[in-house]
Amino acid sequence: VIIKKSADAASIAAARVVARLVQEKPTAVLGLATGSTPLKLYKELIRMHREEDLDFSRVTTFNLDEYIGLEKTHAQSYYHFMHENLFNHIHVKPENIHIPDGMAPDVAASCAAYEQQVADAGGIDLQILGIGSDGHVGFNEPTSSFTSRTRIKTLTRQTVEDNARFFGGAEHQVPRHCITMGIGTIMEARMNLLLAFGERKATAVAESVEGAVSAMMPASVLQHHPNAKLFLDEAAASAL
Ligand code: GLP
Repeated sequence: VIIKKSADAASIAAARVVARLVQEKPTAVLGLATGSTPLKLYKELIRMHREEDLDFSRVTTFNLDEYIGLEKTHAQSYYHFMHENLFNHIHVKPENIHIPDGMAPDVAASCAAYEQQVADAGGIDLQILGIGSDGHVGFNEPTSSFTSRTRIKTLTRQTVEDNARFFGGAEHQVPRHCITMGIGTIMEARMNLLLAFGERKATAVAESVEGAVSAMMPASVLQHHPNAKLFLDEAAASAL
């Protein structure tokens, strides 16, 4: 557990871990996350790409999750988010970018294919995670099985409320369903970096780090991961 004075400092520290991996293994497979939490981390990776020639041209990426029913062009789709905030700025080969398809006609088949793509890429070297205020990772809401794979999930009321701010505050505009990598998928990543900032995350962080390992607090499963690092600001660490 790495606690920094500010979210920016924690994000920069996490970006250094990502950069070190990409330098050592230019073909690294990165698992990526959305939400407000990783924004500064992505900004720092873009800065390193521009100013320090950090090369992403051979990396492969897999995103954790996507809303069901939003077109790629929708301003709140995670496809759009990733291009806006990272891919439009660092030159990852388009064919190496993987984001679950929220418009797939056959969701189950699309999820199985996604798992196969992860396996074909050799597994995920480093997975970036945020945490929901209810302890979700990806969109693995409380009660998600620790052996779950990429699949459809229903968002909890709390997550719909939390994410309404991205939809102009309108809860009815937030999709109710999503595709998310499973907890089993996430646990197979060789390294997990979870970032959490702000007081709103303090309880979920404390329960995940110091509480019982429980499907009611999905991020607590990381206690069983051999190489998981949590990057926190002081507010997110305040209940530890
Ligand atoms: C979202 C995402 C998660 C993210 C979390 C926290 O709904 N699916 O991957 O970690 O909720 O979001 P934020 O970083 O905006 O607090």
